[in-house]
Amino acid sequence: MKFFVDTAEISEIRELATTGLLDGVTTNPSLIAKSGRKILDVIAEICEVVSGPVSAEVAATEYKQMLDEAEVLKKIAPNVAIKVPLTQDGLKACYALSQEGTMVNVTLCFSPAQALLAAKAGATFISPFVGRLDDIGQNGMDLIADIVTIYNNYPNLKTEVLVASIRNPVHLIEAAKMGADVATIPPSVIKQLYGHPLTDKGLSAFLKDWASTGQSIV
Ligand code: E4P
Repeated sequence: MKFFVDTAEISEIRELATTGLLDGVTTNPSLIAKSGRKILDVIAEICEVVSGPVSAEVAATEYKQMLDEAEVLKKIAPNVAIKVPLTQDGLKACYALSQEGTMVNVTLCFSPAQALLAAKAGATFISPFVGRLDDIGQNGMDLIADIVTIYNNYPNLKTEVLVASIRNPVHLIEAAKMGADVATIPPSVIKQLYGHPLTDKGLSAFLKDWASTGQSIV
């Protein structure tokens, strides 16, 4: 399973890049706004650090304008994936961009039907938002299960399932059990993945016993 980080904060990305965990980055207009920086600068800086796909989202809602924005974004670096919303215009832009060989991440997916359309439009990634479905009382992980089943039924569909809006480690593990290709994870959740109380307890016992030996390795 590939791990993308869901942030536009370059310091967090730099830190994660040294761990060997990072396969790509996703951003969105809210994350860019939170960074307080210009999108072109942020995406360029991220692409200098990460060689995997870096999603940059268009802000336009109409086909022609989406393609104009994509033209600017994709010139930043060859690993930029253009993120488009799951609308009719977004899928039309997805088709045009994928036909010319540009990576496309179709975002704001909330139903299996939408995911099927995105795959047929040539999306490189489909981003179903699990946390936002949970927020409205639906089970976000059911959507992932449905999309994985549908895509597996049609091996000619090459779109990767990129689980988005992940809020906790359980989302990630459930997605991995279902065989989702990618998870985009907030930095705070990546940190949570390392932790286990028995690891802490065990380490503290080892350190105590080691200290009692009076030895040092170096
Ligand atoms: C994915 O590409 C989105 O940027 C992100 O996962 C949305 O997450 P949120 O619902 O926590 O804002």
